[in-house]
Amino acid sequence: MDDILLKMRNLTVSVRKDKKEIPIVKGIDIDIPRGQIVGLVGESGCGKSMTAKSIMGILPHSAHVTGSILWKDSNGTETELTKLNEKELRKMCGPKMGMVFQEPMTSLNPLMRIGDQVAEALLIHKLVKSRADARGKVVKILEEVGIPDPESRYSAYPHQLSGGLRQRVMIAMAMICEPNLLIADEPTTALDVTIQAQILKLIKEMCTARNMSALVITHNMGVVSSLCDKVYVMYMGRILERAQVTQLFKNPMHPYTRGLLSSIPRINSNPDYLTTIPGNIPEFGKETVGCDFCLRCSDDERKCFFERPSETKISEGHFVSCHTAIKGE
Ligand SMILES: Nc1ncnc2c1ncn2[C@@H]1O[C@H](COP(=O)(O)OP(=O)(O)O)[C@@H](O)[C@H]1O
Ligand SMILES: [Mg+2]
Repeated sequence: MDDILLKMRNLTVSVRKDKKEIPIVKGIDIDIPRGQIVGLVGESGCGKSMTAKSIMGILPHSAHVTGSILWKDSNGTETELTKLNEKELRKMCGPKMGMVFQEPMTSLNPLMRIGDQVAEALLIHKLVKSRADARGKVVKILEEVGIPDPESRYSAYPHQLSGGLRQRVMIAMAMICEPNLLIADEPTTALDVTIQAQILKLIKEMCTARNMSALVITHNMGVVSSLCDKVYVMYMGRILERAQVTQLFKNPMHPYTRGLLSSIPRINSNPDYLTTIPGNIPEFGKETVGCDFCLRCSDDERKCFFERPSETKISEGHFVSCHTAIKGE
């Protein structure tokens, strides 16, 4: 059995809009095993970032969480994250969890030297006595994340660095307190393809070297294939399919998963001929009784419109929620 670091159960996130509660994340279960990289993949707007933010307790004030997010330390101590107050969660962010966002330019302070920004978490969590004490550690992590000439780059401002180097600084900030879990939300989306590959390699190497777990959020199956051990496919706030990455790529069962797989942009492909999934995602807040994907599905049948498929086991660790996938097995 895998040793599970983080276990989400029946997690829901809803936001209040015009006095109505709109469900965004609709009762998902996700396990993040210790030392493994878990991918959460789905198109924009399906609730991936809301899921990530619920772990770190950084949801907008209009959001409401139910269900469980259970954290288990390696000594067996369990903490229910949804029950922690802001102060208790802030204590975990840094030493236990680190987060990398999509847009380093909006997450970095433009007026502060990058070295001082990386040092901040060490000072907040009192892991060093002074900024001068932090310097050695900061230079070391800057070097580890592949920033050339880290001694002098310590004093650089964000605008003096390229997009790729800024993302490396973000990773250094997330890693400086040696967390057990890295949450990376679209960590390479804003970067060009070559830099993307370098950043993914860096994340993977750091996870392996430190036996760190990661939750990697992406809309790109290519990122999943090069980085993750296990993957959850999300659509309109629900998980439609979950499996080990090798299983999912060999035998994708859900028509949506197959659509995502055929949409992987390839470096040498003609962008005019990308296969994309036709149709749009229905508006949030409009609850359906059937399968959420049926309006865009080419395999749909009558049942799909009035009965939500429950999760079915395909093989060990591989599960799908789809009426037609099961029939075809
Ligand atoms: N602060 C917010 N207030 C209200 N609705 C929001 C807020 N942030 C996101 N949403 C809505 O929640 C849905 C899911 O958002 P998000 O988790 O950011 O999706 P993803 O990361 O998968 O692109 C979107 O439809 C979005 O409109
Ligand atoms: Mg997002």
